[in-house]
Amino acid sequence: MAGSFVLNTGASIPPVGLGTWHAAQGLVGGAVCAAVKVGYRHLDCAPSYGNEKEVGMALHRLFQDGVVKREDLFITSKLWYSNNGPQYVPEAIQTTLDDLQLEYLDLYLIHGPIRLKKGSAPISENSLPCDIPATWAAMEKLHDAGRARAIGVSNFSCRKLEALLAVARVPPAVNQVECHPGWRQARLRELCRSAGVHLSAYSPLGSPAAAGAGAPSVLGHPVVASIAGRLQRTRAQVALRWGLQVGQSVLPKSTDEARIRENLGIFGWSIPEALMAEFSGIEQVKLLRAEFGVNPVNGYKTLEDLWDGEI
Ligand SMILES: NC(=O)c1ccc[n+]([C@@H]2O[C@H](COP(=O)([O-])OP(=O)(O)OC[C@H]3O[C@@H](n4cnc5c(N)ncnc54)[C@H](OP(=O)(O)O)[C@@H]3O)[C@@H](O)[C@H]2O)c1
Repeated sequence: MAGSFVLNTGASIPPVGLGTWHAAQGLVGGAVCAAVKVGYRHLDCAPSYGNEKEVGMALHRLFQDGVVKREDLFITSKLWYSNNGPQYVPEAIQTTLDDLQLEYLDLYLIHGPIRLKKGSAPISENSLPCDIPATWAAMEKLHDAGRARAIGVSNFSCRKLEALLAVARVPPAVNQVECHPGWRQARLRELCRSAGVHLSAYSPLGSPAAAGAGAPSVLGHPVVASIAGRLQRTRAQVALRWGLQVGQSVLPKSTDEARIRENLGIFGWSIPEALMAEFSGIEQVKLLRAEFGVNPVNGYKTLEDLWDGEI
């Protein structure tokens, strides 16, 4: 795949990864096979997506049929909130490696700076105090042992990332966060750039299915539509290409073969600087929100309050 980004480990991360959240069982395996066959070399997985076993079966078939070699793929997974404690980390990665039928991950992320009671739903009432430095030390051991060739975080605000950078022996290679033209993360991107942490953009199309009714549409925004028209590209391609040009990898999810192919069609052309400037006119709204009742114990209102999400 054209133009990889380089992580602080020295490894390359392919600029486009296939997202697998909400990729239903029965569809996700086909999507992974289709994506790899058209040239994707990066997959974004997580145990909380409930589909890692099917992804693993698809990978096994692809390796067995000689379509791609393991070393040519970049595979990410994540440590779920209920495993966010040092004692749970070795078993959690082993379960993911078993499900994905892999010996190692290219990138293992703390899914968010949140800890939940075991087996509980992701609502603030189920949150527990979270010791990120202790979990990170366990992640560093996985890195030392080669089970995760790079380690990183997800949903970390500037404040959380700075706190981790201050104590990490192995600095995080990646912060994976919501990022698209409607939520550009300027401050976080600048911090990541200055600290050598790669920003990987989730929901790069504005997550049209998950954002919910009434949420602003990134692909429907007049600026995105107008730039797409002028460049004769699709709106999705323009949103993804914007991400590459601001220096981040993008993780579009699709289980539709035509859209999987379309989302890779973002190389060999670029958005001219004058048009890049027009994105700054798009009003900023974080789309992925989990609104829950106030927790009487800690006063938190939403999971985002636990992330202390910032612009
Ligand atoms: N770390 C985290 O906490 C976190 C959170 C959210 C997401 N993620 C990761 O990031 C990935 C992407 O984020 P996301 O799934 O929220 O949203 P997204 O990639 O922004 O949007 C996916 C949606 O857009 C549709 N779509 C895909 N390509 C399209 C195209 N070319 N034109 C129009 N619609 C298109 C998909 O439908 P079809 O499938 O029908 O094409 C799906 O409904 C996830 O799958 C996951 O791997 C991580």
